[in-house]
Amino acid sequence: MKMWGGRFSRESDKLTEDFNASVSFDQRMFRQDIAGSVAHARMLARQGIISEAEKDLIIRGLSEIRQELEEGKLQFTVEAEDVHMNIETFLTAKIGDVGKKLHTARSRNDQVALDLRLYLRDEISAVRDLLLNVQEVLLGLAREHTTTIMPGYTHLQKAQPVTLAHHLLAYFEMLRRDLGRLDDCKKRLDSMPLGSGALAGTGFPLDRDYVKEELGFTQITRNSLDAVSDRDFALEFMSFASIMMMHLSRFSEELILWSTEEFSFVELDDAFTTGSSIMPQKKNPDLAELVRGKTGRVYGDLITLLVVMKSLPLAYNKDMQEDKEALFDAVDTVKKCLMVFAPMLQTASFKTAAMASAARGGFTNATDLADYLVQKGLPFRDAHAVVGRAVLYCIEHKIDLEQLDLSLYRDFSQLIDEDIYHYLDVNRCVERRRVPGGPAPETAEAAAGS
Ligand code: ARG
Repeated sequence: MKMWGGRFSRESDKLTEDFNASVSFDQRMFRQDIAGSVAHARMLARQGIISEAEKDLIIRGLSEIRQELEEGKLQFTVEAEDVHMNIETFLTAKIGDVGKKLHTARSRNDQVALDLRLYLRDEISAVRDLLLNVQEVLLGLAREHTTTIMPGYTHLQKAQPVTLAHHLLAYFEMLRRDLGRLDDCKKRLDSMPLGSGALAGTGFPLDRDYVKEELGFTQITRNSLDAVSDRDFALEFMSFASIMMMHLSRFSEELILWSTEEFSFVELDDAFTTGSSIMPQKKNPDLAELVRGKTGRVYGDLITLLVVMKSLPLAYNKDMQEDKEALFDAVDTVKKCLMVFAPMLQTASFKTAAMASAARGGFTNATDLADYLVQKGLPFRDAHAVVGRAVLYCIEHKIDLEQLDLSLYRDFSQLIDEDIYHYLDVNRCVERRRVPGGPAPETAEAAAGS
């Protein structure tokens, strides 16, 4: 008979059982479920709700169950529906009727709210470490490339020269914000929900603060209805994950573009690329493409839960069981992506000569020519117009600004002297952008902490 079978006169249909069960996916929270139950049992004994001997029996049973689950010796069953009732079933089978006392003053509604928080708390630390690792790789590369000139783009058109370090450090900043969002999510997750019961708390004299301490939380949830129906922490994690994946996806897109023969700014290592089954010459950036693709998948996970939650009346509704697969998928996906991203980046070889020569073409120093005229006293708007005419002339004659004769320059403006050629060198263009946050080698060095 079902644990809740008392008021039913007939068995569940097999279809109901299968459709209703979550154990196939929520079993991944068995450690957290057991940790929560151990803390709950300790507290029940301290409060005189169960005896010391009963508590000891329960805790010993639970730790054996954990061990057996780790060793794959216990089989979860769909009949017991979810991880919570499976473990309770194992416990009662192991220690007898005392096992039935564990669920005193507790509901699966506050239990699942706890398990999911504990699970996510562990995963947040794992994700945090992986993210820091990608940041480390970025810093290392940035330190190597503070003087590697490359074109910066707007509209995917060459705009102004920057350095590879500056470009990489842009991603470092994105990940810095992601880290902030992750830490922020952890702060709000840090509330212990046990004691909320099914929805209306309990009449038993629980010590919620004790359970909070036992489980390493800093606060207890403040409203039982909210505590059992809140999944904001999962949504916040998936929001963090979506934004972070968007950053990795943009970076992936650039690595894919830069690996083309047309760009040739980077060559990804053989170990982190794949071949074609038909075209022998191919070396494809599949990993970067998959990170880009999996970004859509993580957005899907976030949207799934947002839509599940959007019209739910208080308090718990079974719809909320749909939170887990989305959250687990987002966790697994971001971890895998961060895990491959770090070595893929670390082993990439940047083709610095191609980058530098690309930076020299495409009039990336046109703004500098205008700035030069401004320094000689021309208002910026007039300087802009002068340079526009000079650029048009160069385009028509298929030359770069550096190749324009001084006499021709003087036709455009009498303010231009021989020093213009030095001024327009792309290395100088980058070096003079010493403004805080700019691409000059020394600002990149400071940003990369070298
Ligand atoms: N398996 C359920 C879930 O994941 C646990 C809570 C079920 N509570 C209930 N009253 N049906 O949400």
